[in-house]
Amino acid sequence: MSGEISTQPSLGFGLGLRVDHYEQVLRDRPKVDWFEVLSENYMVDGGKALYYLDRVRENYPLVMHGVSMSIGSTAPLDTDYLDRLQQLIERVEPEWVSDHLCWTGVAGQNLHDLMPLPYTEEAIAHVVDRVLRVQDYLGRQILLENVSSYVTYTTSQIPEWEFLREIAERADCLLLLDVNNIYVSSHNHAFDPLDYLDGVPVGRVQQIHLAGHSHDGHLIIDTHDHPIVDPVWALYSAAVTRFGDVATMIERDDNIPPLVDLVDELEVARALARQSRAHAA
Ligand SMILES: [Fe+2]
Repeated sequence: MSGEISTQPSLGFGLGLRVDHYEQVLRDRPKVDWFEVLSENYMVDGGKALYYLDRVRENYPLVMHGVSMSIGSTAPLDTDYLDRLQQLIERVEPEWVSDHLCWTGVAGQNLHDLMPLPYTEEAIAHVVDRVLRVQDYLGRQILLENVSSYVTYTTSQIPEWEFLREIAERADCLLLLDVNNIYVSSHNHAFDPLDYLDGVPVGRVQQIHLAGHSHDGHLIIDTHDHPIVDPVWALYSAAVTRFGDVATMIERDDNIPPLVDLVDELEVARALARQSRAHAA
């Protein structure tokens, strides 16, 4: 375990870059401090997506967020994927690169879902080894994001937050804390989301995700298709109180509203973070 933790100063408040907003972002230069781009959308040889990526990059800092590293899988690390990721990193020069603490398939099968891991010592050792190898391969620290989950494993021995903490500390990686995912999982698995926040090491959290979700009356599904709900705002306030000034962005992947609505929602995050920090001070 390394003693040095190297989070960068906060980038401020960002949004996910979405196709629907490409033109408007370039034309109106909205009050957004940075954009997060989905890495896989730009692993192509040319065309419109790369054109807009380059133009937006000229005007905003970018961070890269992936869904295909499958860091928890028992399949060999996909070096073709890592090579394509590295090429994109060279093009974008992102502030940082993130993926999810999950597995997405095994034996050549892609589940197209971000599956949770069993919270065991064996899984910790497995993931730590792979994170160290990925960081070595890419020549940089990565951020891992906590996923939302709808199942648990009977073999799990520790809470999810301990699992996350052990991996971050032993692999010396950083964290992308998804506050909505914590809320979703706390509802689905009946734990206190504040216990989760308390278990995550201060100083490892480089970025926060906020998002909306769907509630079918029983399960909450992490659909990113609604505005952020009040309990998630409350949890965000608690997160800012604990982790301080951390780069925060809103993920909206479906039912995409006009850009101005997301910029307004981001203003709510800005104001709440300011209030929470002032209160904590
Ligand atoms: Fe997220």
